[in-house]
Amino acid sequence: MKRIVIFASGNGTNAENIIRYFQKSSLAKVVLVLSNKSDAKVLTRAKNLGVPARHFSKETLHSGEVLKTLTEFNPDLIVLAGFLLKLPENIISEFPGKIINIHPALLPKHGGKGMYGNFVHQAVIQAKDKESGISIHYVNDEYDSGAIIFQKSVSITPEDTPESLAKKIHELEYKWFPKVIEELIKKPDKS
Ligand code: GAR
Repeated sequence: MKRIVIFASGNGTNAENIIRYFQKSSLAKVVLVLSNKSDAKVLTRAKNLGVPARHFSKETLHSGEVLKTLTEFNPDLIVLAGFLLKLPENIISEFPGKIINIHPALLPKHGGKGMYGNFVHQAVIQAKDKESGISIHYVNDEYDSGAIIFQKSVSITPEDTPESLAKKIHELEYKWFPKVIEELIKKPDKS
């Protein structure tokens, strides 16, 4: 059974969707959810589903304590699902090719520091783009710039608002993110 650790900062609907998906799978399970926000709804969602959930501070992220926790939980894949901080170099180098992120737009457009959640959808609407979508990519030491694994687009109508676009994007995320994770987990480990 492969082991997934999820990092999330907020609501955690993607985290919940991934947990539920793999609760029905014999291939992998979510063994831990980590959040940098002590009051993040994702922590309650995980606990309600029987998954250990822990909060950490920005200081412990950089002091090596989070790395220690990760080493204990020994993940085959680390999934950032609405996680808003940059992971430090010591974590990235410890898990080469094993950390992925989802971004709610078609990278390389609308990525980078400060581009998350509704800020992204606002920027897309403001740019009058005809389409948006989701990008799942490997994590490196720059925001939203690792190799892209998967993208799926959705069209934008003139009536769309950041809120309605967010809904469309979430639907794509719920449909595709667990499947992409599953495919990655099936691949033989090259590390
Ligand atoms: C998701 O749409 C995810 O793509 C986005 O945050 C949302 C979290 O929703 N991530 C980013 O913007 C990262 N730059 P959720 O908490 O309901 O899963």
